[in-house]
Amino acid sequence: MRQSIVAGNWKMFKTAPEALDFARAFSSQLPPLPSHLQVCLFPNFLSLPILTHELASQANLHVGAQNCHAASEGAFTGETSVEMLRAVGATHVLVGHSERREYFHETNEILLEKVKKVISMGLTPIYCCGEGLADRKAGEHYNWVGKQIEEVVCQLSAEEAAQVVVAYEPIWAIGTGETASPEQAQEMHAHIRTVLNSRFGDLANNTSILYGGSVKPGNAPDLFAQTDIDGGLVGGASLKPDDFLQIVQAMLHISQ
Ligand code: PGA
Repeated sequence: MRQSIVAGNWKMFKTAPEALDFARAFSSQLPPLPSHLQVCLFPNFLSLPILTHELASQANLHVGAQNCHAASEGAFTGETSVEMLRAVGATHVLVGHSERREYFHETNEILLEKVKKVISMGLTPIYCCGEGLADRKAGEHYNWVGKQIEEVVCQLSAEEAAQVVVAYEPIWAIGTGETASPEQAQEMHAHIRTVLNSRFGDLANNTSILYGGSVKPGNAPDLFAQTDIDGGLVGGASLKPDDFLQIVQAMLHISQ
């Protein structure tokens, strides 16, 4: 059985006190999670220590970082290494979110280095991919996303690739209220699995592939019911404990 994951990407929202309020409200209402379902919160770096401390005793509830640098240390002003993340208890790292690719010019080459570094430190990378609206309209979306997988995940060894979680987030659906239909998402998830299968064989069946892009309590059940959708990477709706809880419950219901 593949691992199901519901992840909340808080982006540049919530101060540390606000993050703590969320963690308390959320964890007090969270039902016990089975081992095949992980929930992961991705706060700002500054809230990582406070959240890992607050949630340390909660089984299957993890805290991760939204970004990292590929080097262990050095003269990289403003950057954060995976060693530093691990030292405060982070267990996952988002790599290659479309906002990092667009605003911070992160290329597949840079992202491959980051993914390798995260794995080498024993943390789990959630590698994000997804096409823009122009590529979808031009019918190039399978090629585009296939290339993002081939140039990063397919460059890893099988041992490394076994540690990777993929998140498919069509850029046109992020923060827009426009969601890929469950069928559109399923088709792309199946395509990603096919690309992984052609490089790694059966291992592709064990790779968790999350959907992201305007996941809400209302659409989560239909999205999560798709064969190749193993959970969600949730932005806006992860900022409110009640909404995020409902999304977790949708996954819990389906994965039971
Ligand atoms: P959204 O963001 O749910 O607000 O669309 C998803 C993401 O960017 O990870």
